[in-house]
Amino acid sequence: VLLVRNRMEFSALGSKCPHYGAPMSKGNPSSGQGGKNHHGEVGSQCPAWGGSLAGVLRGERLRCPWHGACFNIRTGDIEEYPALDCISCFKVTVEEGKVFITAKKKVLTLPAVTEHRQHLGLRRCLLNKNTVLLLGGGVAALVCAETLRQEGFTGRIIMATDEKHVPYDKSKLSKEMNLKPEDVYLRKPEFLKARDIEFWTEKEAVSVDFQKQRVRFMDGSSQKYQQLLIATGSHSGFLKVPGADLQNVCMLQTPEESSKILKLATGKNLVIVGASFIGTRL
Ligand SMILES: Cc1cc2nc3c(=O)[nH]c(=O)nc-3n(C[C@H](O)[C@H](O)[C@H](O)COP(=O)(O)OP(=O)(O)OC[C@H]3O[C@@H](n4cnc5c(N)ncnc54)[C@H](O)[C@@H]3O)c2cc1C
Ligand code: FES
Repeated sequence: VLLVRNRMEFSALGSKCPHYGAPMSKGNPSSGQGGKNHHGEVGSQCPAWGGSLAGVLRGERLRCPWHGACFNIRTGDIEEYPALDCISCFKVTVEEGKVFITAKKKVLTLPAVTEHRQHLGLRRCLLNKNTVLLLGGGVAALVCAETLRQEGFTGRIIMATDEKHVPYDKSKLSKEMNLKPEDVYLRKPEFLKARDIEFWTEKEAVSVDFQKQRVRFMDGSSQKYQQLLIATGSHSGFLKVPGADLQNVCMLQTPEESSKILKLATGKNLVIVGASFIGTRL
């Protein structure tokens, strides 16, 4: 448990970030408080910017040292991504100058808390029959669907993606290339089902009729909506040179492309076109 003091007020929180398990406590992560992060980086300084690799407390926010997710210290609620879940938060009492933390054993061992405390007790309108259609199966559409449920929306939520997978962590594709798609899923299909979020795979949207509030899909079907979110992401720029369509020229956007590149490149010479973050990581 991480005990935090902000002015004269104490909070007790889980000590590991629910994203990829960074140690949130102060100290050197290489000396037994977490060691390597998932990029294989160790040490007490961030290799990118040289900042301290320890949780940073700013006002009522605790910032994760690895990728910057921020949590509210009063509630444990996630306030800045990339983490999706909240951090555990425990009851603190001060008696005769001593600080006591009360926690249920079961909660202590939980890796993450999915329910946001700030949303507990919100009134739900069970008569809401609206359909919210979310185009795209990336993290943006996922967070929208989850937030709608957390904030009490009880109508129909549909996420439609042209891919085969539930939302996955794209950032991992250039860092660990021998992973199965399921290894990078942000949420399991059961998680979405439990929240009554319909997830349609291999469903490419081809047109939207904003007057009739209807989306048409490649397979000939269509869906009416009351609210629509277009969260279809962005795509790397295609190479516009002769030969760019040859078999061994790959893009890196999906888990399948990631393993294909690894297979094709092992033991061979590889040319990476583009030398910014993704190219360099690769
Ligand atoms: C290899 C790689 C490494 C990355 N590394 C990092 C990193 O280290 N840190 C970082 O912050 N960011 C990283 N990014 C960027 C990050 O992944 C994106 O910013 C993020 O995924 C954007 O989320 P999104 O939901 O907006 O879009 P996306 O994740 O792109 O999701 C959009 C979804 O919509 C679907 N779609 C598109 N068109 C249609 C259609 N017509 N009908 C239905 N579905 C459709 C797509 O198939 C996709 O599933 C990386 C990206 C890649 C590709
Ligand atoms: S491990 Fe904390 S934000 Fe990634």
